[in-house]
Amino acid sequence: MPKRDFLAIPDFSKDQILQLFELAQRMKRGPYRDRPLAGKTLAMIFTKSSTRTRVSFEVGAYQLGGHALFLSSRDIQIGRGEPIKDTARVLSRYVDGIMIRTFAHSDVEELARYATVPVINGLTDLLHPCQVLADVLTMREHVGGWEGKTVAWIGDGNNVANSWLNAAGVLGFELRLACPEGYEPNRTIFDFAKARTKVSITEDLESAVRGAHVVNTDVWASMGQEGETEQRMLAFKGYQVSPELMRLADPKAIFLHCLPAHRGEEVAESVFEGKQSRVFDQAENRLHVQKALMAMVMGGTQE
Ligand code: CP
Ligand code: NVA
Repeated sequence: MPKRDFLAIPDFSKDQILQLFELAQRMKRGPYRDRPLAGKTLAMIFTKSSTRTRVSFEVGAYQLGGHALFLSSRDIQIGRGEPIKDTARVLSRYVDGIMIRTFAHSDVEELARYATVPVINGLTDLLHPCQVLADVLTMREHVGGWEGKTVAWIGDGNNVANSWLNAAGVLGFELRLACPEGYEPNRTIFDFAKARTKVSITEDLESAVRGAHVVNTDVWASMGQEGETEQRMLAFKGYQVSPELMRLADPKAIFLHCLPAHRGEEVAESVFEGKQSRVFDQAENRLHVQKALMAMVMGGTQE
């Protein structure tokens, strides 16, 4: 059987994502006694910071009977210029799967091309697919699925927004993005979603949020964009999920944020801490979806 990588949400069909959610929910309900990763090791390469991704993958691998290795680019030879294609072939001789968080998406594609073990994308400048799997699972739990539902995205058309577009395209729900000019999502990914479902981009936050079932945002400057902070502060002024904006959404709408959050910038403190916020359930779901993902790509588990 060919190895299965997970670099982007469309790497899985709708049916496979449904299977993954079923397995994640079964694992979450517990007790789940299978050990699909017994004797297996996940290498985790990080060239950017992480709290959730690192801890949820490491804990998840352990809970499934396996082991995870934290490899910071500061310590391994990749940081001194060893080619990705060589790292891929070396690690493939030792481990059973590789998770990577880095800058260029093409680096992850190269890693996957040369690795003979499954590769999982733990965030690139382009995509954050594990995050959006957790987000959609949270949506399924708290708004009752995605059929006929609308998701609003407020702010930067960044890696998380691009993965939401991919999810909308594969699963088929409406996604409305409100982004300032010049900060729209990736054009090719937008067109992929547009060909499959209802998606739109506007600069009008209110029209994006009106009646939405999920209101979603992220930081104005992502990792690697620290040098643009001042310019971004100006561009995103007003792009805040405020209590007034939340009132335009469906009365049962939930607020999501992948975290870490900057209160007072992209989200008001009272929304972040408010009754509609599901941000910590969302963070918890990283563990459950990634366990299901590892079981499927590394452990040979079928739901
Ligand atoms: N949301 C997320 O990926 O968090 P970390 O950067 O802490 O991993
Ligand atoms: N868009 C953010 C997500 C962090 C989890 C970033 O890339 O920094």
